[in-house]
Amino acid sequence: MTDSTTPAADSTSIESLLHENRHFPPSPEFAANAIAKPGIYDTAAADRLGFWANRSRELLTWRTPFAETLDWSGAPVARWFADGTLNVAENCLDRHVAAGNGDRVAIHWEGEPGDTRTLSYAELTTEVKKAANALAALGVGKGDRVAIYLPMIPEAAIAMLACARLGAIHSVVFGGFSAESLRARIDDAQAKLVITADGGWRKGKVFPLKPTVDSALAGFENAAEYDGPAETVEHVLVVQRGENEVAWHEGRDLWWHEAVGGASEEHEPEAFEAETPLFILYTSGTTGKPKGILHTSGGYLTQAAFTHRNVFDLHPETDVYWCTADIGWITGHSYVVYGPLANGATQVMYEGTPDTPHPGRWWELIQKYGVSIFYTAPTAIRSFMKAGREIPQGFDLSSIRVLGTVGEPINPEAWIWYHDVIGGGTAPIVDTWWQTETGAIMVSPLPGITDLKPGSAQKALPGISLAVLAEDGEPLARGAGGLLSITEPWPSMLRGIWGDMDRYVETYWSKFPNGVPGSQAGGPAYFAGDGARTDEDGDLWLLGRVDDVMNVSGHRLSTAEIESALVAHPSVAEAAVVGASDETTGQAVVAFVILKSRFADEMAVDAPDLLRAHVGQQIGAIARPRDVFIVAELPKTRSGKIMRRLLRDVAEGRDIGDTTTLADTTVMDIIADKMKAAPAED
Ligand code: WTA
Repeated sequence: MTDSTTPAADSTSIESLLHENRHFPPSPEFAANAIAKPGIYDTAAADRLGFWANRSRELLTWRTPFAETLDWSGAPVARWFADGTLNVAENCLDRHVAAGNGDRVAIHWEGEPGDTRTLSYAELTTEVKKAANALAALGVGKGDRVAIYLPMIPEAAIAMLACARLGAIHSVVFGGFSAESLRARIDDAQAKLVITADGGWRKGKVFPLKPTVDSALAGFENAAEYDGPAETVEHVLVVQRGENEVAWHEGRDLWWHEAVGGASEEHEPEAFEAETPLFILYTSGTTGKPKGILHTSGGYLTQAAFTHRNVFDLHPETDVYWCTADIGWITGHSYVVYGPLANGATQVMYEGTPDTPHPGRWWELIQKYGVSIFYTAPTAIRSFMKAGREIPQGFDLSSIRVLGTVGEPINPEAWIWYHDVIGGGTAPIVDTWWQTETGAIMVSPLPGITDLKPGSAQKALPGISLAVLAEDGEPLARGAGGLLSITEPWPSMLRGIWGDMDRYVETYWSKFPNGVPGSQAGGPAYFAGDGARTDEDGDLWLLGRVDDVMNVSGHRLSTAEIESALVAHPSVAEAAVVGASDETTGQAVVAFVILKSRFADEMAVDAPDLLRAHVGQQIGAIARPRDVFIVAELPKTRSGKIMRRLLRDVAEGRDIGDTTTLADTTVMDIIADKMKAAPAED
């Protein structure tokens, strides 16, 4: 066994976390008006499937009501509400208009330069109908894949919903990914259409997207094997946003404003079976190849809507909700598009970065739109803490009544700052644990019910069953650290990995093939890849990934993927990548690289910068290592496995400092010292 199966956080920091004893009970006023009532846990526990069936009937509009709640006979592929039919887009749009809420604002959109657009539910519905007609005219229909590579503009949500309306499957690719990454995702999903923009605003400038699509589709001549032009893509639909010059491929490229602008406003949504695929979203795993996580319709939308309403205490008539996630991530799918729109929420959508054109931009938007529910990542909170509380204190944040976090554990210090400075000392914070694979929130406090503990994600939501298990699958007693596992199927669970069901079974369901004793559904239990521990109250503390997946600013990155990008550079002989803890970003990518001998001398000085840029170009800027150490050798066990834990120690060691131009001898001395001290790992 490798050292990578040990939870990443070290035991002293866990001990100090568990001694975090500040509690924040709900205020009676909040509890009196809260959506979730305390009895909800018992109701769900008494009849878990009945609970989900009732939530689904109550929150969604079904064309054909379902009779069957869960079919687990094909485990580990679940079928939820399988004999029912619905249209996801109709649930997010038309039915709100039909209910008389067409004038309610769906999206208050703010561009980075300060331009704005307001879309009511009626207007958003019309835009989606037109887009659906335009897509259908391009031959997109049920089951076809559409790649979406857009900035945070309303068309991103419109494009996703237009796919959903047609029963087509969208694959949103984060706009920060490189041409190579985009191409790999287009090919894996065999996308027929790509929807992009001429550019988007970021940090005061227009960043290009269309040239990236062009080179992705053309293929890479310098690749080990020239892959040639993308074969499946028939058209590229281009939204005009950046107003920058773009190259044009006649016959293939079309302007969105022409194709969608000229389309009919009439479109009848077809009813699809509940298990109709809704989207694929690629996420990093432990190998170099990203996994296309597959989600379907009825179960996904049920849990997205339920969690959005209950975890954030959404009162759709009065709240203004804002989730800062990009639509390129699962949080943007479930808590910008599907959850909020299914619930008829009014939300803010912002195109740019938090500090442009001034460091108080987010707080200015909260003040401007009267945001009452705010959901962001701990990384962002920590960087605001660093910048100082004077910045948010310059704005009126009194509209805030619920705060949320997602993506990584939040340290108690950041929790308290968020609570006091952004939440006015009163707003409850929901620390939500979930994954691309789970589709929706799984663990979180419920505001108005839960006695909050800074740093803990606390409890499985009603209807969710989980356990902390030992390596051998034994359930652990309270207080012990182990592996987080989900022990019963849940509605928004992934249904597979696109094109690779073996990998699906292997990655998530082979660790605990027999499940846990007392499971109602039976069959295997889901292995989340996270370490966790319960405290004496049964509250859950997340301890980070136990596999070779890193979490940088709440974004998942694979060590193997970055290592393979590094060794693809002609100068690199060998590379090892670890996630080292970082004050702001949670973890940071640190690479140890051995250069090929003929490059060693001439490149030693420039290599770190060059290789950082190379990774950025191969995968995307988010994957760029913080540090690249050029070393003469890598510490390995006798069987040849890289000792990552040791490299992590080196990467986190104070004596290393943060310079990237360290002489390799220094690094090697430290590694050698540590190797002497480390027990033989083999
Ligand atoms: C981590 C993001 C601690 C975890 C929704 C998980 C968290 C991975 C939390 C999924 C949290 C997410 N506390 N850790 N509240 N939320 N994580 O797929 O390691 O981008 O496995 O989904 O983020 O990342 P993903």
